[in-house]
Amino acid sequence: MHIHNMALFFLFWCSLFCFAVDAFSISSLVSKELYDSIFLHNDDTACPAKNFYTYESFIQASRCFPLFGNTGNLATRKREIAAFLAQISHETTGGWPTAPDGPYAWGLCFKEEVSPQSDYCDSTNKQWPCYPGKSYKGRGPIQLSWNYNYGPAGKALGFDGLKNPEIVSNSSLIAFKTALWFWMTEQKPKPSCHSVMVGRYYPTKKDLVANRTAGFGLVTNIINGGLECGIPTDGRVADRIGYFQRYASIFNVDTGPNLDCQYQKPY
Ligand SMILES: *[C@@H]1O[C@H](CO)[C@@H](O)[C@H](O)[C@H]1NC(C)=O
Ligand SMILES: *[C@@H]1O[C@H](CO)[C@@H](O)[C@H](O)[C@H]1NC(C)=O
Repeated sequence: MHIHNMALFFLFWCSLFCFAVDAFSISSLVSKELYDSIFLHNDDTACPAKNFYTYESFIQASRCFPLFGNTGNLATRKREIAAFLAQISHETTGGWPTAPDGPYAWGLCFKEEVSPQSDYCDSTNKQWPCYPGKSYKGRGPIQLSWNYNYGPAGKALGFDGLKNPEIVSNSSLIAFKTALWFWMTEQKPKPSCHSVMVGRYYPTKKDLVANRTAGFGLVTNIINGGLECGIPTDGRVADRIGYFQRYASIFNVDTGPNLDCQYQKPY
C-alpha cells in the first residue's frame, strides 16, 4: 500500500477510535523527559492549563497522524516536531520577557482564548454554519478558531465541532488532535504545515512572486499570516521564532532557512 493511502486509512479509523500503533509512535523522538524539559511551566499554578496538556495525550493524539514526525530523515523528523511544538507554544504562551527560565519556557499555558474579540463566526460560510450561541474562539494547542475550522476538524476527528466546540478545551486528547489535524491538513490555497516542514511543498508561480518559499516562516504564514506576515519586525512572529530556536537546539537540529515571514505576502 502506498504510504499516503495508508495514512488516509489510519485517519479514517482514527475518526472512530485510535489505534495504538507502536511502529508509528513518535515517543522514540520525544520522551517524557524531553517533553518536560521543553514545557517547563505548563503545569505551573499560574497557568490556566495546569495539568491539562499531558505527555500521554500528545503521544496518543499523534498516533492518529502517522506521517507526523515520521516523514523524511531523522533531522527532518525532529525539525518538524520542533516546529509544531514551537507554534503551539506561541499560540498558548504564558511567557513574558523576564519570565523564569526565559520567555520560551512557557508554552502550553492556556487552554482557551481569554478575551475573544468576537465569536469567530463567519456567517457567510454556508458549509459550516454557526450554531446559535456558540463561540468559535481559540481553543487547544493550536487555538483552533472560526466555524470553518471547528466544523471540518470535528468531522475528521469524530465530534460535532459546530454544536460542541467547548470539547476542544475539555478533552486534552481531542485538543491535541485538533492541533495535529490543523498541522497535517491542506486548506487550499494554503499547503499543510506538515508538507512545508518535510520538503513536500511545491510553490506555484504565484507563491514564488509572494516569496512564499519553504521554511518555518511559511508555517507562520499558514497559521496567522493575515495578521502577522508581510509587515516589518512583528513581535508575535519573533516569539514563534524564539520558541523554535530553543526547541531546535533541545532536539539538536538546525532550524532550516526562512524563519521569518516579514517579506512574504499573506494568503
Ligand atoms: C466543559 O467543561 C465545562 C466546565 O468544566 C462544562 O460546563 C461543560 O459542559 C463542558 N463541555 C463539554 C462539551 O464537555
Ligand atoms: C520579496 O522579498 C524581497 C526581499 O527579499 C522584497 O523586496 C519584496 O518586496 C518581497 N515581495 C513581496 C511580494 O513581498
